[in-house]
Amino acid sequence: MVRALRTALDVEVAPADTMVRPSTRAGVDYQCNLAMSLAKRVGRPPRDVAETIVAALDVDDLTAPPEVTGPGFINFVVRDGWLAAAVAGLVGDPRLGVPAVTRPRRYALDYSSPNVAKEMHVGHLRSTIIGDAIRRLLVFAGHEVLPHNHLGDWGTPFGMLIEHLVDIGWDDSAHTITDLNGFYQAARSKFDADPGFADRSRLRVVQLQSGDERTLALWRQLVDESTRHFEEVYGLLGIGLTAADIYGESFYHPMLADTIDDLERKGLTRASGGAVCVFPPGFTNREGEPLPLILRKRDGGYGYHVTDLATVRYWTTERGATDLLYVVGTPQAQHFQMVFAASRQAGYLTDDNRAVHVNFGTILGEDGKTIRTRAGGSIKLVELLTEAVGHAADVVAERSELGPAEQARVARAVGIGAVKYADLSSDREKDYLFTWGKMLAREGNTSVYLQYANARIRSILRKAGELPGPGTPVLLTEPAERALALKLLDLPAVVDAVLETYAPHRLCGYLYETAAVFSSFYETCPVLAAGVDPQVRDSRLVLARLTSEVLVLGLDLIGIEAPEQL
Ligand code: ARG
Repeated sequence: MVRALRTALDVEVAPADTMVRPSTRAGVDYQCNLAMSLAKRVGRPPRDVAETIVAALDVDDLTAPPEVTGPGFINFVVRDGWLAAAVAGLVGDPRLGVPAVTRPRRYALDYSSPNVAKEMHVGHLRSTIIGDAIRRLLVFAGHEVLPHNHLGDWGTPFGMLIEHLVDIGWDDSAHTITDLNGFYQAARSKFDADPGFADRSRLRVVQLQSGDERTLALWRQLVDESTRHFEEVYGLLGIGLTAADIYGESFYHPMLADTIDDLERKGLTRASGGAVCVFPPGFTNREGEPLPLILRKRDGGYGYHVTDLATVRYWTTERGATDLLYVVGTPQAQHFQMVFAASRQAGYLTDDNRAVHVNFGTILGEDGKTIRTRAGGSIKLVELLTEAVGHAADVVAERSELGPAEQARVARAVGIGAVKYADLSSDREKDYLFTWGKMLAREGNTSVYLQYANARIRSILRKAGELPGPGTPVLLTEPAERALALKLLDLPAVVDAVLETYAPHRLCGYLYETAAVFSSFYETCPVLAAGVDPQVRDSRLVLARLTSEVLVLGLDLIGIEAPEQL
């Protein structure tokens, strides 16, 4: 296609932009809509462009002669022989046809990033789940990933938190804070009500900033205590973030003065009301006045803005990252756009770097408002996840023939999978409604449906005994076999598309379609029934086996387990 465009029309189009997509029209496998968008560029009518492309294409062994319809759609019908051979070639390939990238990039991936001495909230849950899926997909594609957890572990609130810690008689013995939010709120209300405490808190901030040892030790305890809570959530979720991935705000603190000096040297800073700021071009408030990123506040303190300039500088210049991804909620969109713009001015981001705010919407409860517990408090993630496993246990118990220990293991895979999948299967930029019923439904685009579909296939394969291996001919006589074969071959294009816009929901949609196409195949094409020709049986077993492998791989790429039996 790319070659044809070059010779016939003298235009360069990247393979990913040729716009060849699976077709929804009956009797057509793929459709290419490129002629419409190219027409303007080459100054010819779209149909004419389409005819020219078709004439120059060299696809005889791949498809029947392509047909041009409508305003300039090019329709492809893949040859059965090619299709059958391509599917047969997937047997024994652990990557199921997905090539590793030829030019790996180095991604610095900021995700999860909760705040110390506060409970992780559902926003952090989304960041954790989406970030982990992106991490797995990037690694699978062959990229290098440097994950980092941007803990909110520094700044003025730590004065009052540490002082409160001292007040409640915290020593180095084995205390635990069971309720991080309660702890934070107690400190906060004392700060507001008691001027003496407020003064001590401010003094504490100074001691913390100046590296007072006793203060740092108390601060460390708060950080460790919170990290234990976060790790409990990561453990439940099966997320690979560890202590080694923590690059909290405190990590960048020693770099801030130098970053500001650097920006000053480059002539990018301006004083504004006693603060030192940068004003990246193109950002104004409603009155049309330029918006600042604050580097140093009037009182000499540093904040969130300058810390993120330091993250960009650190990951690109010190760690050689080519791509920066920040998996953070949509409300911070402007912050990141401004940080990226200023970083380009400062040279922290060059033409070779890409920086993306992988933003996401909020999770809404059944009432359409931000999700809360029944008592009205903000929801605790550990409780939410435990509840998910509990609901899943009920769903599994209804039909399962497994023993109690196995059932518990499976309930965990189903419950945690459901929470993750509900999040990942909806477009991350939209808000989504959190409802147990929909999340754990056995029908529809849910992980439970996919897990059941896979377990059903695994049971067929177990019954079949030995499985046909590489080299087994695939026969595509029934339309349902053909449809399934085409679906199985779509995986590489789907992985590409997912990584292009960091959109895991596209993979979910594909897995759901694959399971649905398999189920129509299984309705019309008997596999193990008596009287099925052995060659046909083997071919169908190959299709079944590959379907299961696609589902298992696809779920694994978004961090969801697919139990052998449910
Ligand atoms: N801790 C922040 C919050 O809870 C998120 C940090 C995101 N990462 C960053 N580099 N700013 O809102």
